[in-house]
Amino acid sequence: MAQLEVTGIETAYGMSTVLFGLSLEVGEGQVVGLLGRNGVGKTTTFRSIMGLTPPRTGSIRWNGTEITGKPPHEINRLGIGFVPEDRRIFPELTVWENLDIAMRAGRRASTWTLDKVYELFPDLVGLRDRKGGYLSGGQQQMLTIARSLMGNPELLLLDEPSEGLAPLVVRDLRHQIARMRDEGLSILLAEQNLGFVLALSDRVYILEKGEVKFSGRSDEVRDNPEIIKRYLTV
Ligand SMILES: Nc1ncnc2c1ncn2[C@@H]1O[C@H](COP(=O)(O)OP(=O)(O)OP(=O)(O)O)[C@@H](O)[C@H]1O
Ligand SMILES: [Mg+2]
Repeated sequence: MAQLEVTGIETAYGMSTVLFGLSLEVGEGQVVGLLGRNGVGKTTTFRSIMGLTPPRTGSIRWNGTEITGKPPHEINRLGIGFVPEDRRIFPELTVWENLDIAMRAGRRASTWTLDKVYELFPDLVGLRDRKGGYLSGGQQQMLTIARSLMGNPELLLLDEPSEGLAPLVVRDLRHQIARMRDEGLSILLAEQNLGFVLALSDRVYILEKGEVKFSGRSDEVRDNPEIIKRYLTV
């Protein structure tokens, strides 16, 4: 049994269906890539899993238990963290206050302490007293991920974390995600940056128009220019 099992979900916004029977699995401690061009349904897949836009049909099981239809805060409390595309931090609060709030709201398990999060993101230590709104894009991304870790998730849904970041920042982020993986965290990683995903993931799913068009090991994609051309390059 995989830790997360998504089976045949259909999700719609009003009258418009965007996921058509999508299935995927994430095993404990795995990094799984979710790839595809703009608008194929990556974010909607995450919103479905989190209960933000619940699927109309299909099933989502977490550690063997059906979670479809549960409210987002409950799904979060069961151990699934979500880092959305738009980097939600409190701009008026300092870095430390942002982390402190997340820690208070988080689960009690103590894998990710404040010290450990600062160790993973050392840049945040010197920025402790800076307001969130004055951070660079890369620093905000790291604070957003750090906030999610304070909730002690077992699985993290990362929605295009590398988007819009400078190459050196992307490189740091790649190392940080690898360290999170090495700590035993499972990660479902939505990206358009193929190299970023292949460097980190065990397996990938490639979506097109709300359906999985390819699933397999990351090295199968790396060695398959046909797939890359058909589903990934713009
Ligand atoms: N709130 C919404 N209401 C209506 N349609 C939406 C909404 N959000 C997304 N869609 C549509 O659903 C489809 C899938 O969008 P989604 O955001 O899941 O794709 P994505 O793969 O995350 O794309 P991107 O790479 O742009 O982030 C798109 O056609 C999009 O226009
Ligand atoms: Mg998206």
